[in-house]
Amino acid sequence: MISKNMQVQVQNSSVIRAMFEEGKRLAGIHGVENVFDFSLGNPNVEPPEDVKKAILEIINDDSSMGVHAYMNNSGYEDVRAAIAKSINDKFSTTFTQNNIIMTVGAAGGLNVIFKTLLNPRDEVITFAPFFGEYRSYVKNYEGELVVVSPNTIDFQPNLAEFKEKITPKTKVVIVNSPNNPTGVIYSEETIIKLSEILRDKQKEFGTDIYLVSDEPYRELAYDHAEVPYLSKYYANTIIGYSFSKSLSLPGERIGYLLISDQAADYENIISAANIANRILGFVNAPSLFQRVVAKCLDAKVDLEVYNRNRELLYNGLLSYGYQCIKPEGAFYMFVKSPIENDAEFCSLANKKNILIVPGRAFGCPGYVRIAYCVAYKTIEKALPGFKALIEDVKSEGIHSQFLKA
Ligand SMILES: Cc1ncc(COP(=O)(O)O)c(C=O)c1O
Repeated sequence: MISKNMQVQVQNSSVIRAMFEEGKRLAGIHGVENVFDFSLGNPNVEPPEDVKKAILEIINDDSSMGVHAYMNNSGYEDVRAAIAKSINDKFSTTFTQNNIIMTVGAAGGLNVIFKTLLNPRDEVITFAPFFGEYRSYVKNYEGELVVVSPNTIDFQPNLAEFKEKITPKTKVVIVNSPNNPTGVIYSEETIIKLSEILRDKQKEFGTDIYLVSDEPYRELAYDHAEVPYLSKYYANTIIGYSFSKSLSLPGERIGYLLISDQAADYENIISAANIANRILGFVNAPSLFQRVVAKCLDAKVDLEVYNRNRELLYNGLLSYGYQCIKPEGAFYMFVKSPIENDAEFCSLANKKNILIVPGRAFGCPGYVRIAYCVAYKTIEKALPGFKALIEDVKSEGIHSQFLKA
């Protein structure tokens, strides 16, 4: 018999993963070219050439004997030093290898930091819409996820409600920018205000509140948009970075945690996180890919591929009467569902072989997420389906948000 915790997990198993499976099923029936799967954030852009070159160089280099061996649970020292230097060059910071722990992607990093910080019933605040896996990651360590409701005007965090929701039990605030599912970048103004609120509340309650910045999409920012580096605004900052999207390596499971030495209890956090990495069973981040990313710190996937998709999809949807804000980063579009029930709208889309995810999976019902990390052609071929969908809904008139408005 499986555990009670896992019974709940099985029941609530990820909608997104279920959609992914549905996509494969539909492709089996209709042919892969006639199914438009926008459900999963699986990059369609190949890794930069540098990645392949680095892999070959490393495995062909006789002096790199032991490349597949265990190492320090925090990762190779030289790799962590190279990452720290690259961050310092970009953001004028002064980190060293001692601030970095290599992790099994951002997901591994978040689990390591929650294991390190959370006592049962400690509260973790996040802003809707948010990456749904946070629910499970927090629950893994018996924490409580507290959700601040969405600001659907511009999807910047709702700071008035945030202030109200901070309590003496608040241990962590987790933010994600560029955001999955909206593509919004939290502005510098937002970050400054959020940091001020946190400092005030720490003082009021005499507690330490850690700001965890989940950053798999940092490098995917369009039109040279700035993504503020949070350690510069708030001392108790921990950054969870990932190469899954910046280098299109999601299956290789490689990322890192950066723990600012300005953070309260920094030394204990570093040593506890090192142990957490081990005892959660990760032991260490994948050895070959630690070496690979260290050689590719200036490489990036071709952002123009996602940008073209963004323009095509955004302009198309708007011209049919959909409402959404233009993503500034990542590869997701968060579109207002033309009918109130977002899950029902996704089912209607499904009937046209279009797979999209209901906003409720991200704590924001009434919207749907479209992951546009797909071939340009897929969007071109899916657009008539999106047009027909909204026309069907409008002509039927039932539950239509636009007709009500
Ligand atoms: C916001 C967010 N955080 C974390 C992750 C996990 O990323 P990784 O593959 O690095 O574990 C994802 C993956 O899609 C994500 O969207």
